[in-house]
Amino acid sequence: MKILLATEKPFAAEAVEGIKKIATEAGHEVVMLEKYSDKQQLLDAVADVEAIIIRSDKITSEVVAAAPKLKIVVRAGAGYDNVDLAACTAKGVVVMNTPGQNSNAVAELAIGMMVFMARNQFSPGTGTELKGKTLGIHAYGNVGRLVGLLGKGFGMKVVAFDPWVNDAVFDVDGVEKAASVADLYRRSNYLSLHIPATAETKGSIGRELLTSMPKGATLINTARKEVIDEAGLAKALEERADLKYATDIAADTQAELAEKFGKRVFATAKKMGAETAEANINAGLAAASQIVDFFATGNVKFQVNK
Ligand code: 3PG
Repeated sequence: MKILLATEKPFAAEAVEGIKKIATEAGHEVVMLEKYSDKQQLLDAVADVEAIIIRSDKITSEVVAAAPKLKIVVRAGAGYDNVDLAACTAKGVVVMNTPGQNSNAVAELAIGMMVFMARNQFSPGTGTELKGKTLGIHAYGNVGRLVGLLGKGFGMKVVAFDPWVNDAVFDVDGVEKAASVADLYRRSNYLSLHIPATAETKGSIGRELLTSMPKGATLINTARKEVIDEAGLAKALEERADLKYATDIAADTQAELAEKFGKRVFATAKKMGAETAEANINAGLAAASQIVDFFATGNVKFQVNK
């Protein structure tokens, strides 16, 4: 089978080598489309492939229609809001992710951003420490759980909210369960966001939640920009001169936020949460193995469009 590795944001060389090795040893061929800038390049590249490995690359209905032989798409990573699941399902295309494989990289960045904001973006002046502060975790999945563990290492008190996670998980981790989203934000000096972008969550974090946070609070977003109500965020930052916002996915209005709020806001130049060699290798190799296994045995363990 022909497997396309379509990564606008390329994987580390070692990950690419590993993907090729796994696929070719199983008798498949890997073709590459890295650092592309035009949608047409992707449309052309999918024309004769049976499988695609992607990162945040967009698999739209147009892409699916341009890929008549396509059987499987694997998002090498966690969030699959970049894939039109309905279009894939309609064409019988299996969509998978590789849960947990890049989580540590994202968790480390979230904690790094907390330190960065607590220390005035590493510029001169008196900062604060994470120790003794309350770390709120919104969605306690693979990344959230690791952020909690790291936060505990810094001496933070960890509180989390996730209605989908069994109470036993919070108990085992020694993490307090917040009663509600409102309760979580009300208590968190640092709030680390890990909710996916879905119809329910888009625009759900806004003025009300942010202004309920304690004095000097910081919201850290390594999840998705779409979950933020940007007008509400701007209002909250305006009303509360003590609030801060750091994100790994620049807001559409980031330039305006930076102009208005200076060092109280921060955005990475390009999403870099999963940009480590280790995360690339873990997620890339998992994606290749899942495809090989799918073609060999029909294994659909990580399918997300069942
Ligand atoms: C994910 O959902 O796995 C992360 O957001 C990483 O995305 P990326 O592969 O585009 O870096």
